[in-house]
Amino acid sequence: MLLACSETKEEPKTHEEVSENPTFVEIAPIIYKNCTPCHRKGESGPNELLTYDDIKKNANKIKFVTQTRFMPPWPADPNYTHFIGERVLTKQEITLIKTWVENGTPLGDADKVPLPPVFQTGYNLRKPDAVIKIQEAIKIKGNGTDHFFIVKMPSSIPKDTFVSYFEYVPSNRKLAHHVNGHLVNYKEGAKQNLRNGISYDFDNYHSNYVPLYEKMNLLNDDGTFPTLTPNTVYYLPGFTPQIYPNGIGGYRMNKTSAILLANLHFGPSAIDVLDSSYINVFYGAKPKRPVYETQLGTFGISKIEPELIIQPNKIQTFHTQGTLNGDASILSINPHMHLLGKSFWAFIVTPNQDTIPLIKINKWDFRWQYYYTFPNPVKYTKGSVIHVYGTFDNTAQNPNNPNRPPKLVTQGDGTRSMRTTEEMFQFIFTYMPYQPGDEHINLQPNIN
Ligand code: HEC
Repeated sequence: MLLACSETKEEPKTHEEVSENPTFVEIAPIIYKNCTPCHRKGESGPNELLTYDDIKKNANKIKFVTQTRFMPPWPADPNYTHFIGERVLTKQEITLIKTWVENGTPLGDADKVPLPPVFQTGYNLRKPDAVIKIQEAIKIKGNGTDHFFIVKMPSSIPKDTFVSYFEYVPSNRKLAHHVNGHLVNYKEGAKQNLRNGISYDFDNYHSNYVPLYEKMNLLNDDGTFPTLTPNTVYYLPGFTPQIYPNGIGGYRMNKTSAILLANLHFGPSAIDVLDSSYINVFYGAKPKRPVYETQLGTFGISKIEPELIIQPNKIQTFHTQGTLNGDASILSINPHMHLLGKSFWAFIVTPNQDTIPLIKINKWDFRWQYYYTFPNPVKYTKGSVIHVYGTFDNTAQNPNNPNRPPKLVTQGDGTRSMRTTEEMFQFIFTYMPYQPGDEHINLQPNIN
């Protein structure tokens, strides 16, 4: 097997020595930066971690989850590759927290304690230029099973424009499992009453969607199909949209348009819930460099070997490999597996046998499925092979195994292998055709 050589980097010594008597003055910035964005109202994390009192009250737990590196959640191995928005505490920061907790969480000089960050409500990145709301709240039954919906969300923007990205904002982060949405554009005069028709239905059309599109009143008034730009809206647990510098990627959005959530998937709920998620729209420049997305493995362009049939009481590794037909600049990657996932590894082998690391996840966690964006595009040279290995743990020792005792798990029937209890092995990535100098583009977004 090919080995990707990982450069083991020493953690940078940011503080020459770790303070022996840290106070909240030193702890607050660490928590505000790495924890509070999720541990506040409306976000996924339990317990608000905003004030000194909040943090003090949860001190022992905080010590525990940072010692074990359970928090902040960042599945990608930072010794293998780095990504934008990486949230990993240094050893010094972890020691600082531990000492602070063991010393009884002293406040220190109250005047020097930094103020908690101020968060906006309704968006994470910046104020959106437009918001697309759901027409009718979706009823999710509290019957303990997965739910799949298809949803039409008509938009109303003043004129045709370009959009650099969409941000899906779940109304219930604990249930929202995954969303994949397309942008539907109507030519001027092609559609009159887009808001008529049903706005959502269960996804039980088994790939025959035309009757549903008719019920939703999605077709042009003359019965032809409007233009569909696939995969423009995306959401997975822990996900924030990939935002590229102006001119890279983006979409044309017409005045009359809609988002079609082709696959809105909620995990099981014990109680009835109403969902009124919405989509923030961010305008941008006319795209100069189109961005493409492709995927290896389940539903993708490459076969999984051996076939994804996971035997009970076994830990098994699967492989898939793929190529692109020209030089490319890889921007973002998204590894995807479900509850039996154990580890994930992807790298490129070039024609002259060099290895380019992409991502290594040593301990897969279903809850954190980020779309990882590289700080600079990674060059893919024609003739290189992208290799992906995924290991699945179908033993009773896997605490996330949904089957007790373990049973045979597959991709399901192919059309709907997205149930949490079925498995997937996917490597999704975005790229643009290579142009000289791409490797120097700074992909850190300038969110303004
Ligand atoms: C990306 C969002 C996110 C970030 C960042 C994050 N957390 Fe969490 N945290 C969560 C979620 C979601 C859970 C619940 C996980 C679960 O139960 O499966 C959680 C659970 C916890 C728990 C366990 C709570 C309990 O009562 O069981 C603690 C403590 C915690 N986080 C502290 C932290 C600290 C400290 C940081 C920063 C060093 C941090 N978190 C960063 C989302 C986040």
